[in-house]
Amino acid sequence: MTSVAGVAAISGGSSLAWLSDWAKEARRDPVANRQKFENPKIPVEIDGTKVFFISDFHLCLGKNLLWDLRHAEDFQKMIEEVRAEISEKDILVLGGDYVAYPHFEARRDLPEVEKLLVNFSSFSQTKFALLGNHDWEYGEKNVAQIRKFLERADFDVLADESRILKVGAAELPIYGTKDWRLGGMEISEVQKFAEEFRNQFKLILTHNPDWVQKNSSGFEDSLVLAGHTHGGHFSNSWIRAAALYQAKYKSDLIFGRHKLRDLVELIISNGVGAALPFRQNRPPDYLVVELCRSGK
Ligand SMILES: [Fe+2]
Repeated sequence: MTSVAGVAAISGGSSLAWLSDWAKEARRDPVANRQKFENPKIPVEIDGTKVFFISDFHLCLGKNLLWDLRHAEDFQKMIEEVRAEISEKDILVLGGDYVAYPHFEARRDLPEVEKLLVNFSSFSQTKFALLGNHDWEYGEKNVAQIRKFLERADFDVLADESRILKVGAAELPIYGTKDWRLGGMEISEVQKFAEEFRNQFKLILTHNPDWVQKNSSGFEDSLVLAGHTHGGHFSNSWIRAAALYQAKYKSDLIFGRHKLRDLVELIISNGVGAALPFRQNRPPDYLVVELCRSGK
């Protein structure tokens, strides 16, 4: 018969084993989450283009926290894998949250951001970048610094702004949002964009997917790529509910691929880093989405 102390020791031991497994998963190298997106309005010239969406680095030197988060060199392997796969016509997007927490010496994390972003300087593809809630949380001065590092690496930073990517005679309208929680995102701006390009295929890049659920009406023929949620960190909904903040719309848009109204599709990355040092069946990933003209 197992004693009470024995049961406590066994359950304590297995809890520690879980924590250790979850901590290991949080520190795994990010893997490519490959998706194929089909839409008949994707122009022939864009057909086969891949969008690499890499989000949520959460770089932190970690010395002022209880745990050690990601450092720039932790992403070296992933960057080389992306470099080996990406072709000239592809699009590289960074989805925001370059930093973790604005602790007492926030500025000490910024050199890590610079070190990470220098790695992307040599990528010659079309490059866009967003800013996430953790970046905005670092304050205006530090956001300006992160933006400077991004621009130095030739990223076009989109903050409630649109661009038209021209490929031959074809056009791909692209919109990048500010952050929904802390960046002051204007829903009306993205709605104006969707209205303007109503009859074309559109790519919408956003850090936080939470606004999409209630506001996707009128976004026909859009693909939305997002990060922010880290896949919810835990596949177990009870642990997830205890560990994470509530989304504004209490939506379930925290993981995977979703078909919403008006032909809007949303794909959410688990992110490559994490603000919590644990993951359960939600490994770090980045999106590689191939845009395919359907019915070809
Ligand atoms: Fe994040």
